[in-house]
Amino acid sequence: MKDIFNFEFDNGIKLKNRFVVAPMTTYSGNKDLTLSDEEEKYYAKRGQSFGMVITAATAISKHAQAFTNQISIQDESYLPSMKRLASTIKQGGAKAILQIHHGGRMNATDLYEDQDIVSASAIKAERKNAPTPRALKTEEVYDVIDDFAHATKLAIEAGFDGIELHGANTYLIQQFFSPHSNRREDEFGGSLEKRTKFSMLLINQALDMRTKYANKEFIIGYRLSPEEYEDPGITIEDTLYLIDKIIKKDIDYIHLSLGKYNQSSIRNSEDEEPIISKIKSVVKGKTPIIGVGQIDGLSQAKDALKLGFDLLAVGMGSLADPHYPKHLKNGQAPKKEINEESLLPKPLFERLHKWRGLEDRGYQIKNPK
Ligand SMILES: Cc1cc2nc3c(=O)[nH]c(=O)nc-3n(C[C@H](O)[C@H](O)[C@H](O)COP(=O)(O)O)c2cc1C
Repeated sequence: MKDIFNFEFDNGIKLKNRFVVAPMTTYSGNKDLTLSDEEEKYYAKRGQSFGMVITAATAISKHAQAFTNQISIQDESYLPSMKRLASTIKQGGAKAILQIHHGGRMNATDLYEDQDIVSASAIKAERKNAPTPRALKTEEVYDVIDDFAHATKLAIEAGFDGIELHGANTYLIQQFFSPHSNRREDEFGGSLEKRTKFSMLLINQALDMRTKYANKEFIIGYRLSPEEYEDPGITIEDTLYLIDKIIKKDIDYIHLSLGKYNQSSIRNSEDEEPIISKIKSVVKGKTPIIGVGQIDGLSQAKDALKLGFDLLAVGMGSLADPHYPKHLKNGQAPKKEINEESLLPKPLFERLHKWRGLEDRGYQIKNPK
């Protein structure tokens, strides 16, 4: 039985518990895309109780920005902001992981003048009002890989304990892996193997940055969405192939982005085997796996560990209750009312009112003043 209040990575880094704040965009950075005071307070509180905090998706370059007021690590001038973010989280005793991100074709439009919305291919996403992206030229793909590497170097300099490559939730890294958004005919597309090349080069570069500028304790994680709804789209077989390649690299964790931690295939309703079981049979304990999705209390947490996850990311639960792990440890139920005490930045608090399905999970949101 895994100890829920203890975890150690293979590199020797220890966490005070297995609970991780899921990466969550706050839409609350300053206008210049630096960390706002409200965000600082939000992270400080959660760093006191969770074993690890993964930050909001952080833009690795100007054109990587996907959301309004998204924090950025596009160049050296963002170091003071990033240093504040790392130290705020670490002060409470949690490990601080920076999620590095490029939105690609999922970027919101009209964020700033001369915006360049790019992707693997000039194919629109299947959503209302989606822009048609510009396909990156081969040499530009290498520039984007360099931007990710540079962001990792800056994250090391800023004092983070690690980075997470945001390869999930339909953003650029996933767009290169997906047969929907990647119709390229160069070295980055055309076959399953070529569609993995972008991810593999990103991982290689991150490992390289760790060797050059950090030490072996610097954590490198990779987040992915195991399937896509679209046709063509990422299948579980594609993902098992990708994961098999990822675990051969010296990375510290794989993070599965799931709507529900125990869900089965979204493409094949007849297949009832939980996605984690399929993935576990490939990973075979070589790399820790983070699970996420409606881990709203102790019974789900225990069940998720039993199913094979090693670490448990908590999204909504951590927004409602900054001390979720502490409450579970003390035998209390986590708080489910989102109010002033949750210390959420105002733009995030307001957006949550439009979030669907929260009531069904027992969350209540107090009306903002
Ligand atoms: C407000 C909000 C913002 C999010 N932003 C991100 C993000 O920046 N990066 C990411 O990988 N996932 C993001 N997610 C997804 C969460 O990390 C998580 O996978 C999801 O909320 C499911 O977990 P839960 O059921 O515990 O809420 C976001 C979710 C929410 C609710």
